[in-house]
Amino acid sequence: MTIPLLDLRQQYRAIKGEIDTALAEVFGSQRFILGPVVERFETSVAARLNTKYAIGVASGSDALLLGLMALGVGHGDEVITTPFSFFATAGAIARLGATPVFVDIEERGYNMCTVELEKYMDGHAVRAGKTTKNGKSRKRIAAIMPVHLYGQCCNMDRLMRLARKYRVPVIEDAAQAIAATFDGKPAGLFGDVGCFSFFPSKNLGAWGDGGLVTTQRARLGKLLKMLRVHGSEKRYYHDYVGINSRLDAIQAAVLDVKLRHLDQWMSARQRNADNYDRLITEAGIADKVIAPARLPKRSHVFHQYVVRCLHRDELRAYLKQNGVETEVYYPVPLHLQKCFKPLGYRPGSFPRSERASREVLALPMFPELTDAQQREVVGRIAEFLRTAS
Ligand SMILES: Cc1ncc(COP(=O)(O)O)c(C=O)c1O
Repeated sequence: MTIPLLDLRQQYRAIKGEIDTALAEVFGSQRFILGPVVERFETSVAARLNTKYAIGVASGSDALLLGLMALGVGHGDEVITTPFSFFATAGAIARLGATPVFVDIEERGYNMCTVELEKYMDGHAVRAGKTTKNGKSRKRIAAIMPVHLYGQCCNMDRLMRLARKYRVPVIEDAAQAIAATFDGKPAGLFGDVGCFSFFPSKNLGAWGDGGLVTTQRARLGKLLKMLRVHGSEKRYYHDYVGINSRLDAIQAAVLDVKLRHLDQWMSARQRNADNYDRLITEAGIADKVIAPARLPKRSHVFHQYVVRCLHRDELRAYLKQNGVETEVYYPVPLHLQKCFKPLGYRPGSFPRSERASREVLALPMFPELTDAQQREVVGRIAEFLRTAS
C-alpha cells in the first residue's frame, strides 16, 4: 500500500460533473483571459472570505509581488518577514529591490515571533533617529509580511498592534491559509493586502497556476486591478508600470466549482488532523513525534500536518521504503539561501527556524485520507522509533 502525500484524483472524481459543465461554458465562450467567469469567481471568493475586494492574479508569487508594488515598496526599503517560509515570500521583496529583514519564528508553532518582531521594531525606531556612519539615514520599514504557515495564522493581535504603533503597512502571505481564522476573522483580512495561492496542491487548488489579492481599501483595490494589467484602467493607457498577471478563465471556472466544496474539505482535513493527534498519543510516541501546536484563537485549516522529530531524515527514508510519502517544508531557511548571502546572515542567526528546518516532516494530508491510511502512517513511525532506540 502506497500512501501519497496528496491525492487529487479522488477529489477530481467526486466533482467531475460540475467541472465538466463549468469548463464547457468557458470553451463555448472562447474567452480565456479575465472576463465574466473570472469576475464571477472573484465575487464568490470575496463573499466566502468576507473581503471587499478580491482580484484574481496569475499566481501566489505574483500576488505577493503585486501587493508590495501597490504598497509602494521599492529600492532601499526594508520588509520584515519570517525566514521559515516558501521562497516566494522573500523573493517578492528582493525582486523589487527592497531588503528582506528576517525575524525568527515562535517557540511553539512556525510563524514569525511577534516578541522578536517587537524587539526589532522598537530597536529600529531608536536607530532611525540617528544617521549611519556614512551620514545616510536608515532604511524605512516599508511593510511587515507575516506568513500563515501550514494553514495556521500568525499572532495577528500583537502584530497588528505593532503595525499600528509604527504606522507600517501589513501584507499577509496567506498562500497556505485560505479560510483559516484568527479570533474568527479570516487570514488575509487583517493587513492592507492579503495574498493567496491556488497552486494545485493548495486547499483551494487550480488546474495550473493561480492566485488572489484581497484588500478592504478601495484605493488599493483599484490600484491592484490596474497593476495586474500593466498599470492600465483604460486599454492602452498606462498610469503605472505594472505587470501581466491575470487569472485565466479556465482556472477561475475550476476554482469556482471547488470553492463550493472548500468548507467540507477543510472540515475533513481538520478531522484527519485530530485523528493523527489521537493516533500519535495512543501509540505512545507523542514525546518523540511532536504534533502541530494548536495555538489560541486560531482555527487551523491543515494545509499541511507537520510533525517534528529528531532523526527526521532517517525517519523519512524509512517511511519512503515502506510506501509512505512525506515532504520537508522547508529544508533550508530563507536567510541561509545562497542568493541571500549578501544579506550577511549566518548559521545561528535564527536558531528556531534552523532547528525547524532540521526537524519538520509533513505527513500525508488530504480530505479523503482514510483512518486505515493514517493508522499505517503512525504505525510505521512507531515501528521506526522502536528500531531506532
Ligand atoms: C507560503 C507561500 N507563499 C507563496 C507561495 C507562492 O505561491 P505560487 O506557487 O502560487 O506562486 C506559496 C506556494 O507555493 C507558499 O506556500
